[in-house]
Amino acid sequence: MFHVAIIMDGNGRWASQRSLPRLAGHREGAEALRRTVQAAPGLGVTDLTVYAFSSDNWSRPVSEVNGLMRLLARFLPAETSRCLENGVRVSAIGRRDRLPGPVLRALDAIEFQTRAQQRLHLRVALDYSSRDRIRAGDLAPDVDLMIRTAGEQRLSDFLLWEAAYAEFHFTQRLWPDFQGADLAAAVADFNRRQRRFGGLPAGYCGIHA
Ligand code: IPE
Ligand code: IPE
Ligand code: MG
Repeated sequence: MFHVAIIMDGNGRWASQRSLPRLAGHREGAEALRRTVQAAPGLGVTDLTVYAFSSDNWSRPVSEVNGLMRLLARFLPAETSRCLENGVRVSAIGRRDRLPGPVLRALDAIEFQTRAQQRLHLRVALDYSSRDRIRAGDLAPDVDLMIRTAGEQRLSDFLLWEAAYAEFHFTQRLWPDFQGADLAAAVADFNRRQRRFGGLPAGYCGIHA
């Protein structure tokens, strides 16, 4: 298993730089997610968890929240056939009870239709708060590589428990600009790290106890 998690950040800034509404940034963000899912299996990624909407994101203006939810309700059904072609299983993590009906139905449908796919497991974090998940004992697999775009260097309540030994990769790239090559660069960075999990480097044979 190689589990990559991505905090997809910077959609709003991407839009502002172009004097576009924030939602235009979220739309381009959906394209970036499509490219990333396409590139992931070829880089050895078996599990990809993406932060799409945090429980704290409900505090944004209603128009942005509604726009994001509409985008999700459209995007998920439109991606189903591509997921089936590419062996991608999609599931959601997070609270389901506050999601609008159309989003919930789209999630149920794509989870059911892609349930047997085995090349890549894409988990979409929606109305997600890691603190809440930990309290409920509802955990994802351990994260190997945690990526955050747009220059921010924080977890913002994402996979706190699962990232216990994750390697972190931060990039200035805004999420809508993220390409397969950026994922490849992050994986190459990961492959240069030495993970020790509290032990000693593999093959260590020093003489001092
Ligand atoms: C990430 O982009 C997407 C969501 C949080 C839904 P932002 O919307 O946070 O973009 P910035 O951080 O304002 O640029
Ligand atoms: C985290 O990004 C949530 C998602 C990417 C969905 P935010 O933009 O909401 O996080 P903060 O406010 O910068 O910590
Ligand atoms: Mg942000």
